Amino acid sequence: MTTTTHVNKAVIPAAGFGTRFLPATKAQAKEMMPIVDKPVIQYIVEEAVAAGIDDILIITGYTKRSIEDHFDRQFELEQALIETGKDKELAEVVGLASLANIHFVRQGERLGLGHAIAVARNHVGDNPFVVMLGDEFMAPRTNLLTEMIQTHSQYGRSVLALQEVAEDEISRYGCAKPERISDRLIQILDIVEKPQPSEAPSNLAVMGRYVFTPEIFDKLEQVQPGVGGEIQLTDAIAMLLADQAVYGVTFDGGRYDTGTVPAYLETIVELALERESLREEFGDFLIEALQRHGRL
Ligand code: UTP
Repeated sequence: MTTTTHVNKAVIPAAGFGTRFLPATKAQAKEMMPIVDKPVIQYIVEEAVAAGIDDILIITGYTKRSIEDHFDRQFELEQALIETGKDKELAEVVGLASLANIHFVRQGERLGLGHAIAVARNHVGDNPFVVMLGDEFMAPRTNLLTEMIQTHSQYGRSVLALQEVAEDEISRYGCAKPERISDRLIQILDIVEKPQPSEAPSNLAVMGRYVFTPEIFDKLEQVQPGVGGEIQLTDAIAMLLADQAVYGVTFDGGRYDTGTVPAYLETIVELALERESLREEFGDFLIEALQRHGRL
């Protein structure tokens, strides 16, 4: 095991059941669902690479084999693309296998997000590392992960991504009690999972990007399992806070959620409209469809 202070490893937990997407996720990974023409997990890997990460561990499970195939070579397909002269597509599929060093480990029992991250301990070793949830990604313009890694380099501590949400939405997220250091940087004094709006310490929700010091692994081992035997990441972060400072970087927009059906649909529409080659025709279709359904 080697120790570094430089952050070059990311862990992507992608082993969940995706129950909010059944029956689509009965036999396939939620993380492989397409947003326009790329699976969600590819956006996440590209986001990691853009932030300087070159070693990625994806936590997978049963029904997740296609994630491994997606980042592997596929010689039969490559041969067919060569023979039909589809050079652009060929470059794209070949390139996927060399985006980063991508490793896979299975979670086995699905005992929650905290447990999925604990499975990465052996691979990560005594190093700081990034965690990127497998069902959301950030627009490149946010530069969020790079900023979080810089904050980690400055303070040597864990850093969470925080976004302000509407009061009635806070009960869906982990919520931070903040002490503001500067415009976008805060120190986190406390963290609670899914609080009722009346009990929430702020409207700052923890989003699915984290930089952790390796001490989080000790805390994950100490967390008592909650409902359904799940190990909650928020509980481990709360324990970490008692020992060492934890920071938060706030960001405004550019987060794409794919974990629920409404959020997934919104993400597809946004990204389709961002694509120049689709914007006009798809935009016209949307207007026409809204009119047809009496919404415009
Ligand atoms: P979610 O709770 O959003 O995903 O976890 P889920 O469990 O797949 O979805 P639902 O609630 O059943 O619809 C966030 C991320 O953590 C991973 C998921 O794959 C997702 O990318 N995860 C969750 C694990 O890897 N292991 C788990 O035990 C739980």
